[in-house]
Amino acid sequence: MTSGVLDSAGLAARHLLTVDDLGAEGIERVLSVAGSFAEVGRRANPKVPALRGRTVATLFLEDSTRTRLSFETAARRLSADVVSFSASSSSLNKGESLRDTVATIEAMGVDALVVRHRASGTAHRVAAWAPGVAVVNAGDGWHQHPTQALADLYTVADALRRPGEDALGCFAGLPVAVVGDVRHSRVARSLVAAYAAVGARVTLVAPPTLLPPSLEGWPIAGVSSDLDEALEGARVVSLLRLQAERGSGAYVPSLREYTARWGLTVERAARLDATALVLHPGPVVRGVEVASEVADLPRARIGAQVRNGLVVRMAVLFLLLGHDTGSAGAGEQVAGGEDG
Ligand code: CP
Repeated sequence: MTSGVLDSAGLAARHLLTVDDLGAEGIERVLSVAGSFAEVGRRANPKVPALRGRTVATLFLEDSTRTRLSFETAARRLSADVVSFSASSSSLNKGESLRDTVATIEAMGVDALVVRHRASGTAHRVAAWAPGVAVVNAGDGWHQHPTQALADLYTVADALRRPGEDALGCFAGLPVAVVGDVRHSRVARSLVAAYAAVGARVTLVAPPTLLPPSLEGWPIAGVSSDLDEALEGARVVSLLRLQAERGSGAYVPSLREYTARWGLTVERAARLDATALVLHPGPVVRGVEVASEVADLPRARIGAQVRNGLVVRMAVLFLLLGHDTGSAGAGEQVAGGEDG
């Protein structure tokens, strides 16, 4: 989290804009707090009073199902008020600028602004325009989608962590294949940074046209255009959607050929290591990057990623906003019982 999501006390934060400067310590903190909140979701009344009196606004200027609903549900489970901005019925359509829209929302006294936009860097701009608000990047162009990466790491740790093992111990040397449209993917950029921070070994697997023009500075173990070879020994296979809205169709000869060479087909899934996990951030385009039958296998953790995204986002909002409300820590919030 930019500006140090975790201060020396391990709680204070300003924004979450990129996973890059979270570091292993910050990731561990978010996953740990998320683990504390997982129990809340199993209650009849899955709420805690941690952010009572705080207001979280969602400003989504690009389509979303899971991230938006997840943040809004997370905020409500923490007893925050939620303001949901609808671009299609807003004054943006009357010519108001995004900057003035952000200033208007800030003037209403919101505490956090969760932002999604098709342009890379928008979350950083919003954070500069609204200095009094904690800004969370819910996806900006090709750049970053930090809470998706955190949800994926939580999901992997939940599946692979052995009793008594350090929180991040399961990631040491873990072979991870990130497969698909890396070029246009903010999830890939966030995942690579997050996996590298916790010691996993990421191989990017894609047609050369769907790799970034340069991989200089990417903390990866390797690159391959041969999916069958790359899947040998992989313990986690993270699939990426072809980003049609960003023009990916122009980078592959045809969807049929893409699926034949880079799709996780039933045959390829059958050759995976018995313990290998299949992840996909969604939305899934069944029959393209993954066969429909494979998406429904027990080893595919797509539903778990969504469930875990909720508790990870609770943790992020709590860490960003909970430190100056007089709230107890996450553990105490959970132990302290349900919201009234
Ligand atoms: N993974 C993800 O960001 O999904 P949405 O676009 O539905 O939010």
